[in-house]
Amino acid sequence: MDRIAITGGARLHGEIAISGAKNSAIKLMAASLLTDEPLRLTNMPRLADTRFLARLLRRLGAEVVEQDGEDGAETVLHTREIVSALAPYDLVRQMRASFNVLGPLIARTGHAKVSLPGGCTIGARPVDLHLDALRALGASIDLHEGYVYAQAPRGLTGARIEFPFASVGATEHAMLAAVLAKGETVIKNAACEPELGDLADCLNAMGAHVAGAGTSTIRIQGVDRLHGATHAVIPDRIETGTFALAAAMAGGEVRLTRTRSDFIDALLDKMVEAGVEVTRHNDGMTVKRNGHRLQAVEVETDPYPGFATDLQAQFMALMTLADGESVIKETIFENRFMHAPELARLGADISVSGGEARVRGVPTLDGAQVMATDLRASVSLVIAALAARGETTVSRVYHLDRGFERLEEKLSACGADVRRIAGEGESED
Ligand code: UD1
Repeated sequence: MDRIAITGGARLHGEIAISGAKNSAIKLMAASLLTDEPLRLTNMPRLADTRFLARLLRRLGAEVVEQDGEDGAETVLHTREIVSALAPYDLVRQMRASFNVLGPLIARTGHAKVSLPGGCTIGARPVDLHLDALRALGASIDLHEGYVYAQAPRGLTGARIEFPFASVGATEHAMLAAVLAKGETVIKNAACEPELGDLADCLNAMGAHVAGAGTSTIRIQGVDRLHGATHAVIPDRIETGTFALAAAMAGGEVRLTRTRSDFIDALLDKMVEAGVEVTRHNDGMTVKRNGHRLQAVEVETDPYPGFATDLQAQFMALMTLADGESVIKETIFENRFMHAPELARLGADISVSGGEARVRGVPTLDGAQVMATDLRASVSLVIAALAARGETTVSRVYHLDRGFERLEEKLSACGADVRRIAGEGESED
């Protein structure tokens, strides 16, 4: 398995173009199952997660073509017919969000058998809210042997769905199923993340009637059929925040382009509070730090527009070298501090208790061998390594490849010393 080696100490100078949002792209790909016409997605990231989902969609009957368009990578998805409504365990297990094919399959064919995604490294991550939403829309749901068996032979029917708390995946799933249901669906306590707005825009371009996405109440008037469309994926706010934090950690000046600073307001406010210089532009922002030490600041993760849980690990990396003690509270996922012991291997001083981590800034970090534990945790180790003395190697980088496109290339282009070491057949366990 590959590893990434980073020699710390280089300041970053240059420009990084942000890719399309992974978390949006995979839901938009699932939306393609709702029509027998082609859906063309532009500004597509090329990632392990999009490849996993393409494999599953092909199994269900989709033709998936990746091509280079005028504005970068595109994917055209065309499901003339659903040839199988079965999403097997081996494919869903590789990427949880594959579970979101369930709603579209029921909406299009009236039945589906989809594997439960199972646990994952950042907590139990149940799918009860997804299933409640589908039941509310009239699907009968049975669970056995690790599979969801869903039936709605006469189609789905619009309903009022009130979530007990906002879930990104369950809101998206309800939306994907309700666009082809008979009548009106109202989703209360909906998640407000930008990816919800992106999904609604794409579905509307396909002929759906979705209003209010991005607010806590979404209204959907069901339609009989959807048609093909072309839709550009929004910029990846987590990649944007990650590179902003990388620049702040390494020092220097980096301009992030093809993105939106308003997607990460909560993070940028905290970075400015810590002492980082941030200048916003029409197509992104410039992040600058001139060698001075940052101040420790407190952070609590929250649903959008709050501080994103997917940026918590990277922010913790930044705080390891700050002056003072930073308290970081994780409110979205249990067990999301697995990066803390790995950061400690680089010399960070972190203690974790329940959903709270206390990071006492140290003057220096030293390179070490560390291990990626999940997607966002893995990139926090790369960020820390950029400012550590000597060399750090990060193993299990397949976590990183799930969600970051050409990470080494983008960082190296700004002067970082980051290399991928191909490790054929070697075991890391
Ligand atoms: C999505 C993102 C993930 C991000 C998260 C929160 C994708 C592919 N992933 O994940 O990167 O970290 O939003 O911003 O878009 N929950 C339940 N029951 C359910 C569903 C969720 O209890 O049926 C709980 C989860 O365990 C978690 C909380 O709700 O504690 C929020 O999860 P959710 O917003 O659903 O996250 P995901 O959609 O899985």
